[in-house]
Amino acid sequence: MLATLILFLGLPLALATEPQSCAPLIPVTFDNSTIPQLLGQWFYIAGASSYPPHLAELRAVTFEAFSFSPGNHEDELNVNEIIRMNETCVVRNSSKVLVFQQNSTLMHVDDNDVASMAKLIQSDKDLLILNHINIDFPNLSLSARTPNVSKEHMEEFRAHLQCLGFTEEEVFYTSTEVQTPLRGG
Ligand SMILES: *[C@@H]1O[C@H](CO)[C@@H](O)[C@H](O)[C@H]1NC(C)=O
Ligand SMILES: *[C@@H]1O[C@H](CO)[C@@H](O)[C@H](O)[C@H]1NC(C)=O
Ligand SMILES: *[C@@H]1O[C@H](CO)[C@@H](O)[C@H](O)[C@H]1NC(C)=O
Ligand SMILES: *[C@@H]1O[C@H](CO)[C@@H](O)[C@H](O)[C@H]1NC(C)=O
Ligand SMILES: *[C@@H]1O[C@H](CO)[C@@H](O)[C@H](O)[C@H]1NC(C)=O
Ligand SMILES: *[C@@H]1O[C@H](CO)[C@@H](O)[C@H](O)[C@H]1NC(C)=O
Repeated sequence: MLATLILFLGLPLALATEPQSCAPLIPVTFDNSTIPQLLGQWFYIAGASSYPPHLAELRAVTFEAFSFSPGNHEDELNVNEIIRMNETCVVRNSSKVLVFQQNSTLMHVDDNDVASMAKLIQSDKDLLILNHINIDFPNLSLSARTPNVSKEHMEEFRAHLQCLGFTEEEVFYTSTEVQTPLRGG
């Protein structure tokens, strides 16, 4: 119990420590294999934003699963989302993701309004790291094929956040289980 507490308190320090070296965020260059790799089920694991209104909203999210299925056009994906916000469960299936091959950008569109634009960052095939780029406050999110990720994958993501200058207060996780591997380190 005490060890857990100490390790937990150690978390903010871990993120604040000066990085040894920063691996650059390398965007994926889209090709014909990009969409097949995106299709199917994903779980939102963690995200970081320095934009206070986003953070307040996203702190309420305790679970989020989403899936991509083929849309009406070959460069379009339908999005089905299940989000638990506080104690309320929200199911949404109205939004789409447009896949632009020419500039390797994903655009999340809801009722024809552009909700966000993101670059896909190179990582493990079972991870989905998105760098949202259309806002003054850039953010980074981690989703995965499974509701939890390995300690190594979480540390890789946290290293990116550290390099981008995010503080622990600007990072949120969808569930406490997800943080458990970090406490062990
Ligand atoms: C990828 O798509 C391009 C353009 O649609 C096409 O010309 C090319 O043959 C495709 N390549 C493969 C490997 O399917
Ligand atoms: C990142 O920005 C996008 C676009 O503004 C927003 O939809 C998303 O909620 C933000 N994510 C975080 C973690 O702040
Ligand atoms: C979730 O709960 C927090 C704290 O109780 C509250 O501030 C926030 O407005 C709630 N968010 C939603 C979307 O219900
Ligand atoms: C979204 O859900 C509604 C109601 O369940 C359903 O009628 C509609 O076909 C669904 N749309 C998509 C794109 O899955
Ligand atoms: C990518 O291309 C689409 C379509 O031309 C455009 O709407 C979007 O703004 C571009 N995104 C970036 C980041 O340049
Ligand atoms: C997720 O958690 C389960 C149960 O604790 C574990 O068996 C599995 O290896 C974990 N997956 C990853 C990717 O760490």
